[in-house]
Amino acid sequence: MNAFFHLDKGHLHVESVPLRDIAERFKTPCYVYSRAALEASLDEFLNELAGVNALVCYAVKANSNIAVLNVFARRGAGFDIVSGGELKRALAAGADPKKIVFSGVGKSTEEMAFALKTGILCFNVESAPELERLNDVAGSLGLKAPISLRVNPNVDAKTHPYISTGLKENKFGVAYEEAFGIYQRAAALPNIEVTGIDCHIGSQLLDPSPFAEALDKLLSLIDQLAANGITLHHIDLGGGLGIRYQDEDEPTVGSYLQPLLQRLAGRPLKIILEPGRRLVGNAGALLTKADFLKPGEVKNFAIVDAAMNDLARPALYDAWHDIVPVVPRDTAPSIWEIVGPICESGDFLGHNRPLAIEPGDLLAIMSAGAYGMAMSSNYNTRPRAAEVMVDGDQAHLVRRRETVEELLALESLLP
Ligand code: LLP
Repeated sequence: MNAFFHLDKGHLHVESVPLRDIAERFKTPCYVYSRAALEASLDEFLNELAGVNALVCYAVKANSNIAVLNVFARRGAGFDIVSGGELKRALAAGADPKKIVFSGVGKSTEEMAFALKTGILCFNVESAPELERLNDVAGSLGLKAPISLRVNPNVDAKTHPYISTGLKENKFGVAYEEAFGIYQRAAALPNIEVTGIDCHIGSQLLDPSPFAEALDKLLSLIDQLAANGITLHHIDLGGGLGIRYQDEDEPTVGSYLQPLLQRLAGRPLKIILEPGRRLVGNAGALLTKADFLKPGEVKNFAIVDAAMNDLARPALYDAWHDIVPVVPRDTAPSIWEIVGPICESGDFLGHNRPLAIEPGDLLAIMSAGAYGMAMSSNYNTRPRAAEVMVDGDQAHLVRRRETVEELLALESLLP
């Protein structure tokens, strides 16, 4: 827990609102975000970057609710998008197009055209064929596409293999050794304007040293390009800074940024960052109710009303999320498997949790603000959860719960 999710008089609160009141009003399962926590995490970056020519582009994929995006847009943040859908969201949330960067390995012709017409800041190009397609699309619109090349620096981010992206075997970016040649090609294309360089080495990094290692590789490429007449104006270092889920030592934003800023001092390069998880992860929780308790010979199961379709991270990455009672009991805890109603053995939210719970008790699955709702699905025809944002002593519904009728409305019978 943190300053924004705290116990007060025996009740778990988000800012000044008891989670029990939120459950009563909006029902469960329900995602709950703290506006103050979102602002505080963005401010950590902004304070560290004061006086530096820098832009924080929040990675929309981590949590794409437009109310979340709007909180960041109001504070001047830009956005890192990976689809036309995310671009629409960012615009709906009030984003400044000139602060949007477009990442992703498979941008379609339509998405490119939409982003070009919107006038975004930069395309983070991830392959040579993508560069050619972008040149064609820009030409057909009579526009010039600003680009940076996503370079794969081949450094080990020392994180979960599914979320490590900067190694040679990953599908992202162009190989470091090939980047120079692709830049030369880009500089020769009529509808491309080379503006920067980009990398993103992975997610949930708890040791900041790989970021500096990646930066050093990028800087030597920048110098090599400059010596050959290709001058870059910005460097985008991606996202990836980790958060505390359990008992990890969370690196401070300063310990991450200072070594990078030192290396960049004196260079006329704008710095772009694409943090996702760090801005939203610990600003959100998933609120759920224990429906049935099934004590057993080998294991005790607490069946809650949230499931892997709501929060996929435990099932997908064996990820840990703290699970805390909303109104803690003072009885002795037992050990519980916290599972959802979905018909899969992998449908769990937590293993071996010591908890004192009774049927009907509310639980908060913590650190669920990043890659929670954004990765949810309708598996088992479960309508997706509601999302609520707390702002001081007010709770606002920022996405209402889906209904089964809405899901069925998209389908049709054969004639
Ligand atoms: N920039 C790019 C190009 C990315 O691919 C990502 C995340 C980010 C920025 C933001 O990274 P962050 O600051 O959030 O680490 N679903 C996984 C995480 C996947 C990350 C994908 N890319 C999870 O739940 O842990």
